[in-house]
Amino acid sequence: MARRRSASPAKPPTAAKPPTGAVLAATAALCAGVARYCQLNAGTCGSAAVPLVVSVCLAGVGCAATLALIPAMSELLVAAGLFGIDLNKATTRRDAAGVLTRPIEGIKVPEPMGLVTGTVYLMLMFVFIPFAFVDVADRPGIAWNHVKLTEFITGLLSITCMLFLGFGDDVLNLKWRHKFILPSAAALPMLMVYASNHGVTTVTVPLVLQPWLGRLVDLGVLYYAFMGMLSIFCTNAINILAGVNGLEVGQSVVIALSMLANNVVQLVFFIEGNIEERLWNNLFSIYILLPFTGVSLGLLYHNWFPSAVFVGDTYCYFAGMTFAVSGILGHNPKTVLLFFIPQVANFIFSLPQLMNSRAIPCPRHRMPGFVTSTQEVKVSYTTFRAEELTSLGRAIFKLCKATGLCEVVEEEDGSVRMSNMTIICLCLKLCGPMREDRLTMRLLGLQLACTLLAFTIRYKVAALAYEVVE
Ligand code: UD1
Ligand code: MG
Repeated sequence: MARRRSASPAKPPTAAKPPTGAVLAATAALCAGVARYCQLNAGTCGSAAVPLVVSVCLAGVGCAATLALIPAMSELLVAAGLFGIDLNKATTRRDAAGVLTRPIEGIKVPEPMGLVTGTVYLMLMFVFIPFAFVDVADRPGIAWNHVKLTEFITGLLSITCMLFLGFGDDVLNLKWRHKFILPSAAALPMLMVYASNHGVTTVTVPLVLQPWLGRLVDLGVLYYAFMGMLSIFCTNAINILAGVNGLEVGQSVVIALSMLANNVVQLVFFIEGNIEERLWNNLFSIYILLPFTGVSLGLLYHNWFPSAVFVGDTYCYFAGMTFAVSGILGHNPKTVLLFFIPQVANFIFSLPQLMNSRAIPCPRHRMPGFVTSTQEVKVSYTTFRAEELTSLGRAIFKLCKATGLCEVVEEEDGSVRMSNMTIICLCLKLCGPMREDRLTMRLLGLQLACTLLAFTIRYKVAALAYEVVE
């Protein structure tokens, strides 16, 4: 695809040869390492050795395939009218005051690349099924193994639905209410399988509450409501912490690696009690997440600043549902939420703008603004008149102003400019304007710090609240 050069050019997808060879070599080394570990720990790894090695292998192949396929698909997507324009680049047209001119004009960046990534992922997962399940009929506990096969295939069905719905959103620009209804529908098959397999709906009560509630409480239908809401949350949370090159995929890679690290901790340090169930739950999560991490790393290479491709809502929904499936069918939904601390904070902070006319007006884009002279990104604003807000909106506006959570500029004509209510703008307010990739690095650093906090809460703080941490 022809691209103009500028001080901050968009990266042509074919500019540098993607490091596919290095990825395949690293995969081979990793496979050898995992095979050796399984051989040394044959007692616990047992029949998991082959699927584990295949899963690592598919992650590497997935990364190599997305690295190679994305440039090849870029022109096709642009030709089909599927592209976006990077709003924070010098090549995008602005007037003398630095305001974007409408209609937006600039380099066409192929979008949604989540479609290519998700398709590669699904293909790999279909190839994986025989390696994990081909002999289920011959294994002891046939019924149990069939249950696991059903769970696995249904998890993939929910991910497929979300990929399809995300693509629908990219093409049709769905309304916000659809973004809540569609993930609930996509999660239904998975919740049905969970219910039909008598999935656990009890939670352990913290020590301080046990005198009143007992050791275990069966939440019943409320537990299903929680899992349904987790699916809605995961799919939307990544999409609203977005609009900066590399951020959507970068945060997904950090979350996936955090969840994988938790699975490894569980398998290495807590493999006791009902070993078979525990082993399966963590392996399930690993089988889902490893190839996901592989394909996402390939996408990140092309989506990193300056982005050659955009991931689209397709990727955000696909990633969110992959995490929900791994958490729910891996029987670890509460821990998954712990790895979403920045997304939870961003969602709560965003709520007044998500309510839009009922609280604080929400512009079409809340991504950072652009400083033409320095080519850095800065806070972006929503504009309103305080007296026209609802009483709830006025109260939130006063709170944001008093606490310094948002930057507030009172204009001479009586209108107000308030920085958008995202942790991206909060970071820019606190640290000042910076280059776009630095902003991505800082936000990913925050995500990583929150992973460490999540592990502390999961294994240290929980030890104070529960008699057993497992
Ligand atoms: C969500 C956010 C919106 C944010 C947008 C950015 C809410 C309620 N909505 O909307 O505030 O602006 O994501 O993805 O929080 N783009 C860039 N650079 C990037 C990524 C995207 O310029 O690094 C632009 C491109 O023009 C691209 C467009 O954003 O085409 C994608 O926006 P879209 O995903 O359709 O926005 P929403 O998900 O509706
Ligand atoms: Mg989006």
